[in-house]
Amino acid sequence: MIVLGIESSCDETAAALVRDGHIILSSVIASQVEVHHQYGGVVPELASRMHIEAIVPVVEEAVKKAGISLSDIGGVAATQGPGLIGALLVGFSFGKAFAFARQLPFAGVNHLEAHIYSLFLMDDPPAFPFIALVVSGGHTNVYHILSPDRFELMGQTRDDAAGEAFDKVAKMMGLGYPGGPAIETLAKTQPPDIPFPRTLLEKDSFDFSFSGLKSAVARYIHDHAVGSDPEKARVASSFQRAVIDVLSRKLIHAAQFKKCSRIGISGGVSANKTFVEALAENAAAHGIRIFTPSPVLCGDNAAMVAARGYRLIQQGNLASLEDDVYSRTKTH
Ligand code: KG4
Ligand code: ZN
Repeated sequence: MIVLGIESSCDETAAALVRDGHIILSSVIASQVEVHHQYGGVVPELASRMHIEAIVPVVEEAVKKAGISLSDIGGVAATQGPGLIGALLVGFSFGKAFAFARQLPFAGVNHLEAHIYSLFLMDDPPAFPFIALVVSGGHTNVYHILSPDRFELMGQTRDDAAGEAFDKVAKMMGLGYPGGPAIETLAKTQPPDIPFPRTLLEKDSFDFSFSGLKSAVARYIHDHAVGSDPEKARVASSFQRAVIDVLSRKLIHAAQFKKCSRIGISGGVSANKTFVEALAENAAAHGIRIFTPSPVLCGDNAAMVAARGYRLIQQGNLASLEDDVYSRTKTH
């Protein structure tokens, strides 16, 4: 069965056609980054308006690229939440209307579960059980994944998400939005030798807190009047190292705690090669293997939505026309 996936939870309008939950026929992503860049972050009102403009052309392009006709589509899945309400409404309403008009099954997909499912779009997906980290601009969630439908939340951030910390630190140094890629690139040029704090919280807690680190970076930038490129690079590199250390230690601990030898990471921050390489090296020393989606599937995309939607449709776990979007975390 070919499922049309739709994603519009934040600043990407995306559509994808995926066969049998794992064969990607097409995946189109229209990013609004250029527009939000000038404001230093996502402007929700602008995001909604741009989704409205983009949704039809993006779906049309996905259908064209897949080389199929509309009658080949057997199901529809759209992100239902969490995310920006106005943004979610565009994709979810489009999905509902499309499915209703063509009499197709329609699934409402949880954005975090979709990120987990991006791991199943790899040629070599992790076997169950495994530990999963969804690390993005909105979330830093650690799960114990027991089956295709059992995701046990082990921990999450108590304040900023890791990606949000990257974005805020980048903003402090005038590096623009999104901050992650800018910090990663700049960090390559200087050593991580400023001792920023690593907040590990209580023993056996898998929660995170990045606000202390963010404040320490802000204080350092202020106290040392950081302004030159090499100084910014040193801050970027030291900040990134602190985030990597915390994420790696918690993840390896989580894997050992649950006796898992596999860790999957997904979400925008998992596109950070410095992080993935450091984690893979540490994990290998403990006999643990790291899985991550291909770079285009790390950030927001609709192929992962179609993958999760396919599973929900197979199970008859469908959304109705009365169902609404939700802004905060909720799982099926
Ligand atoms: O998953 P995603 O595209 O959207 C959300 O659901 O939030 O993640 C976007 C986040 C942003 O905070 C961005 O700065 C971060 O992922 N990001 C990175 C990198 N690429 C994107 N963070 C660190 N290093 C990167 N290379
Ligand atoms: Zn996301």
